[in-house]
Amino acid sequence: MPIASFPITPVFGARVEGVSLSDITAGEFEQLYAIWQKHHVLVLRKQELTNPQFERFSAMLGELDPPPNQGAGRKSVPGHPNLYVVSNRKDGAGVPIGALGDGEAQWHTDMSYLERPPFASMLWSIELPETGGDTFFACMPAALRSMPRQLVERIERLSIKHDGTYDSGGNVRKGMTANDNPMHSTGTPHPVVIEQPETRERTLYLGRRRNAYIPGLSLEDSEALLDTIWGYATAPQVTLRHQWQLGDVVLWNNFTTMHRRDAFPADQFRTLHRSQIKGNHVPTAAVRKEAA
Ligand code: SIN
Repeated sequence: MPIASFPITPVFGARVEGVSLSDITAGEFEQLYAIWQKHHVLVLRKQELTNPQFERFSAMLGELDPPPNQGAGRKSVPGHPNLYVVSNRKDGAGVPIGALGDGEAQWHTDMSYLERPPFASMLWSIELPETGGDTFFACMPAALRSMPRQLVERIERLSIKHDGTYDSGGNVRKGMTANDNPMHSTGTPHPVVIEQPETRERTLYLGRRRNAYIPGLSLEDSEALLDTIWGYATAPQVTLRHQWQLGDVVLWNNFTTMHRRDAFPADQFRTLHRSQIKGNHVPTAAVRKEAA
């Protein structure tokens, strides 16, 4: 069956049909990869997978990255140290089997506090609550294109320090000390406007809002400029909402999108397995064609 893709919004995201990730062929993978490069977020419904099959498909994208250093519930899938559990379930001893609990996860790009952040991530739904827990994506190239030229010219010369203190659930990462001063918290600077390393598409690269800081600016000016940028980055016209069904696999480009998740009722269960692909690229400043 040929692979078919259907845009989710006019801006980004595609639902893909006609491929079973459990036995995807090299030829199908090539087609899928091309669709993903164009649409940034792919949704594949009704995937019947085992953990080894999910891991095998993930590894077709590149070397897998072990789960991040979460402050709460850093747990891998038993027997699969490279697969990460996102869940609010607890084991018999009351220890979370996964990360992020049942709360909101705020807008973020995965692990952008690293020098070479992962370039792709994927979630596979195992159990879902009756309500809540939707995941939202924001398209960073589209957000950049929606900005006035004067603002783009200002920010393309700047960097953002990407804070490594807190995860998207607000937990202090293991080995870090709570610090709410964006000027002094630990993090890694990356250019605000970068190139997607494979397609060379220009894109915003923001990480997460908490503790972000623009070096060289006063804290007040940095906060004001970041708020302006984030207004464009999370505007409804550049975002999409994914309402999960069992067996969904969602793959996103970590250089060109951000994501967040809604909270869900604490007395219901939500478990997804996640894989992450190591980045081979340091985010690099994009140079405008006329300036090159
Ligand atoms: C994540 O940030 O990777 C988790 C998103 C989700 O639980 O939907």
